[in-house]
Parts: sequence; structure tokens; C-alpha cells
Amino acid sequence: MKKLLPALLAAGLAFAPAAFAQDGKGPNENSASEQAAAGQDPAAEEAEEGHAETPHYPLKEPEELDWSFAGPFGHWDLAQLQRGLKVYKEVCSACHGMKLVAFRNLEALGYSEEQVKAFAAEYTVQDGPNGDGEMFDRPGIPSDYFPSPFPNPQAAAAANNGAAPPDFSLLAKARAAERGFPTFLFDLLTQYQQGGPDYIHALITGYGQEPSPAVEKSIQPGTYYNPYFMSAPALAMPPPISDGQVEYADGAPQTVDQYSRDVAAFMMWAAEPHLVERKATGFVTMIFLIVFAGLLYVVKGRVWAGTPH
Ligand code: HEC
Repeated sequence: MKKLLPALLAAGLAFAPAAFAQDGKGPNENSASEQAAAGQDPAAEEAEEGHAETPHYPLKEPEELDWSFAGPFGHWDLAQLQRGLKVYKEVCSACHGMKLVAFRNLEALGYSEEQVKAFAAEYTVQDGPNGDGEMFDRPGIPSDYFPSPFPNPQAAAAANNGAAPPDFSLLAKARAAERGFPTFLFDLLTQYQQGGPDYIHALITGYGQEPSPAVEKSIQPGTYYNPYFMSAPALAMPPPISDGQVEYADGAPQTVDQYSRDVAAFMMWAAEPHLVERKATGFVTMIFLIVFAGLLYVVKGRVWAGTPH
């Protein structure tokens, strides 16, 4: 055990430069095919021939974006969250539910009680059973949760080529990708917690690229190539949104890039509505602990001042 730890550390350090080199890659470079073309990497060359070791997904790392809620002094950009809600409602909610978020939670996005009531009423919610034992449909009220588009995961999968669209409630946190050594150490210092939104943005904007021939062979029929997808070279979700599809009233650009930023920020809010408060509380707590440690040190000196040693 005593020997294992230094050995692991040494191995980590040996691999660190390679990990750094990967991090430095731009979002539009396909490292595997490029290296193979240049003939630098024997493993990648083998991959080209189609009998190589298991490839690592995602094929490309997400780009790190600036989010208003990043860092210890982050805040929600309410206009952005409202736009994200609009994108979710008009596009993504056709396939993705959000069953842990209630309409009344939307007041946190700056809507009044009346607005939330009107918003909820646009949805049809199943209620019941009534006196006859029948389930019935009625307009939504603020205490209802976002209804799911499919009655059960099996129906969702059947309608989407065998892969059920995951619920959005916690997705932004569930997809906060593993970043590996040594990046996760720096993440502790920089308080990087935006892996989920970065991933979602990369995924939504990552369609339409050309797979390398080796990768192309492993793409299943009925799936769409996306080098940012975490679990495979392609996923069952078709490119969900295109430029100009959702109308913004506040003049923000109506592009896929902007839509995916907004919906990713909105999903982060849905997954952790108290993110900003948590960070603010954490910051005050750290300041308190530092001041308190100083006070304790002074007090200790005073208490033991008269004791000879
Ligand atoms: C036509 C239905 C459909 C629409 C519309 C749709 N999705 Fe999906 N989505 C899917 C399916 C199906 C999957 C599961 C894909 C898989 O696992 O292969 C999925 C998966 C995802 C995932 C998870 C990927 C992962 O790592 O597992 C995210 C994130 C996502 N969708 C975001 C969005 C966003 C954002 C929108 C709206 C802009 C949207 N989707 C609209 C069908 C849809």
C-alpha cells in the first residue's frame, strides 16, 4: 500500500503532459483522425484499419464557455434563463420531460404569480381518479410539475429509435463529465462546476461534422454522429434545433449557438436552483473560518501566556 501511492502519483505525472496536450486542442480538431493521418500514433493508425483497442468517448472535449453563474460570485442571468425556458418549451419538451420542476418554481426566473398561472394553464395535466374512478385531463396549475411527453420510458424509447430521451430535471448535473487527472485538481482551485452546461452546449452545436472512416464504420443505423456525445460516436437524438427556430423578444441572436447556451443555463438552474446561494454561503463560511482560526490562535496565546515552558 505504501508503495502503491507513489507509484500511482508517478504514473499520473507521466501521463499529465499527454492530458494537457489533449486539453489544448481546439473544438474543431478531430485528434484521432488527424494523428492517424500524420502517422504519429500507432494506436490511431490501427483504428483506421478497424481492428484497434476500444476508443474513448467523447471523441472531442467540450469547449469551456463563460457562464454568468460560474465561480464564487456567480449569478443567474434571468433573461438567459427565460430564453432557455422558451427553447425548452417550444423544442426540447416534445421529447424530454422535466418532472422534478414545478411551474411555481418558475417564479425564481423573474415571473409574477399571474404569469406563472397563465404559463401553467397552457399545459394539459392528467389528474384523478374522479368519483367514477376515471383519470381526466385538466389545465395545469402552478403546483403541477412539467408533464412528461411520454407515458413511460418504454413508450419514449419506442418513439425514438430505442433510446428514451432522458428527463431534464437533473441532467445538467448528471452530465458534468469526468475530466480526469490532473484537470480535476485545477477544477478544485478554479471552482469549475460548469461541466454539464459546457457538455450540453457542445452536444447541441456538435452535429453535422464529418466522422473519420474508422469511426463511420461503428455508427449504428438510425443514430447521428456527434463527437461530443459521451457514450458512443453517435446518438439517437436527431439535431434538435436549427437557426431561427425560436423567436427571442429581447434581441438575443437566434442561432443554434445561443439557443444551446440558453437552454444549457436553464437546465443548470433546473438541476440546481440554489447554486448561487450555495456558492455565496460557501464563500462567507470560508471567510468566517479563516477569521475564526486567527482568533483562536490569538486566544490560545493569551490563555497560555502565564504558563512557563
Ligand atoms: C425528437 C426528440 C428529441 C428532441 C426534440 C430533443 N431531444 Fe434530446 N434526446 C433525444 C433522445 C432520443 C435522446 C437519447 C439519445 C441516446 O441516448 O442515444 C436525447 C438525449 C439528449 C441529451 C443527453 C445526451 C447524453 O449524454 O446522454 C441531452 C443533453 C439532450 N438530449 C438535449 C436536448 C436539448 C437541449 C433539446 C432541445 C433543444 C433536445 N434534446 C431535444 C430526443 C430528443
